[in-house]
Amino acid sequence: MDKEQHIIQSWQLNAKNWISIIDSNAIESRKLVTNQAIIDAVCSAKPLSVLDIGCGEGWLAKELSGKKISLTGIDVIPELVEKAREKLSGDFYIASYTDIARGKINFSKLFDAVVVNFALIGKESTEDLLASLPRYLSAKGKLFIQTLHPYSRKSMNDYTTGWKQGSWDGLGDQFIQPYEWYFRTLEDWLQLLDRSGFGNIHITETLHPRSGQLLSVIFECGVK
Ligand SMILES: C[S@@+](CC[C@H](N)C(=O)[O-])C[C@H]1O[C@@H](n2cnc3c(N)ncnc32)[C@H](O)[C@@H]1O
Repeated sequence: MDKEQHIIQSWQLNAKNWISIIDSNAIESRKLVTNQAIIDAVCSAKPLSVLDIGCGEGWLAKELSGKKISLTGIDVIPELVEKAREKLSGDFYIASYTDIARGKINFSKLFDAVVVNFALIGKESTEDLLASLPRYLSAKGKLFIQTLHPYSRKSMNDYTTGWKQGSWDGLGDQFIQPYEWYFRTLEDWLQLLDRSGFGNIHITETLHPRSGQLLSVIFECGVK
């Protein structure tokens, strides 16, 4: 099985665990910082319609729909999409990033914002997806990506773009089959966004409020 398939299989196996950990708000960095950071970033653009890609069990879609935004969500794991459908009314699709990139989903409208929150994990799937996204955005539409801050790897003396061994550390023993994920340096993220047709890139960094540890980066960009 290739690495991209392995990522999807792992999410399939851990879907129930993920739903329960998100429902219990048990991930400290999310609770303290990163959830609100992505909500604030997206809301600052005042979108009327948002496409949440890799939406998982739908917590972000639910938050945004409470702000009178029309929500569309998409994820490859049926169990997660089912959960999202239970949480809010919106259009939800079961599909992979490759399906989106190949134009297999007919969204029947353009979006004011596309958001991908901690959900870009693979290499080709991410590259293909990002290259396809300009066509789903309205004229002044914006893309928002939140991901692990690349500099958080600097202290590991392994600041090179490439596949890295992952883990479910800190989430509990019930999580199984960790997967390799594709790490990008900050420079490589910026180049990838540029190559994918995005410009005017604005960066927001989040920190743990007590330890000062770098947590995430949010890229906000428009179509070139
Ligand atoms: C860490 S979770 C984040 C979920 C959600 N965005 C959130 O903030 O809670 C990563 C999500 O990406 C989805 N995902 C990973 N690879 C995918 C792919 N190739 N196509 C579609 N969804 C994918 C997983 O199913 C999972 O729901």
